[in-house]
Amino acid sequence: MAEFFLPKNSKVNKQGKVHPAPAGATRTRKFKIYRYDPDSGQNPRYDQFEVDLDDCGPMILDALIKIKSEVDPGLTFRRSCREGICGSCSMNIDGKNGLACTTAIEDVKGDITITPLPHMDVIKDLVPDFTHFYAQYASIKPWLQTVSTTPSGKERLQSPEDRNKLDGLYECILCACCSTSCPSYWWNSDRFLGPAILLQAYRWLADSRDEMTGERLDALEDPFRLYRCHTIMNCANACPKGLSPAKAIAEIKKLQAERTL
Ligand code: SF4
Ligand code: SF4
Ligand code: FES
Repeated sequence: MAEFFLPKNSKVNKQGKVHPAPAGATRTRKFKIYRYDPDSGQNPRYDQFEVDLDDCGPMILDALIKIKSEVDPGLTFRRSCREGICGSCSMNIDGKNGLACTTAIEDVKGDITITPLPHMDVIKDLVPDFTHFYAQYASIKPWLQTVSTTPSGKERLQSPEDRNKLDGLYECILCACCSTSCPSYWWNSDRFLGPAILLQAYRWLADSRDEMTGERLDALEDPFRLYRCHTIMNCANACPKGLSPAKAIAEIKKLQAERTL
């Protein structure tokens, strides 16, 4: 695996532990899993686990849960819904960012290498530190902002056509698969908001009920926050929900350009 695909500051000691398949297993797959405990003072390593596929669920997350339950309880990863809804189980699976719960073992060929999302600081094993990502999310004020009073105390209505404009945006589960596959975000994540947060920013710009469009565009008008996107398109390829952050970013750039006409 190319060095730039690993978590930040990684120097992987390849001499990890090897856990063979149980005796009698006939249909096995080898999982090479990134292990790192910053408190140990030791370099990260890859541990190998041979899993009996005849005694395991079909998804990558099933294998991770089986390994944690039966072989190594210290293996650390996030998961919650196991339905591709919560975004917790995002990780790099054999060189591609994705959700462990919706990636089938049989769709990955050969030995399966699993690392945390690329270019993030690692808290432990497969758990990246999302602190900065969530701070960037908060910075775009991801809630409905209005100045007018609510019509006679009722909810703010939206036509079906305006509601349809949110399709392809509201489905984002903030898994960060896109941002952590974006080279511009790897090198400039301190100032570039990255595809996930920009897609979220556009979700509010596209909402007919929101009344802060000008302020939202002002906040994005910056050489780094928005314009570090160079349309490389990795983000759209990485999204496990089939969304296109690149398209949302293009729409924001279009709105910015229209303001200057
Ligand atoms: S299109 Fe923009 S945001 Fe998406 S991967 Fe490329 S540079 Fe990153
Ligand atoms: S756009 Fe897709 S890949 Fe990016 S955070 Fe949202 S769901 Fe995840
Ligand atoms: S466990 Fe929720 S998306 Fe995978």
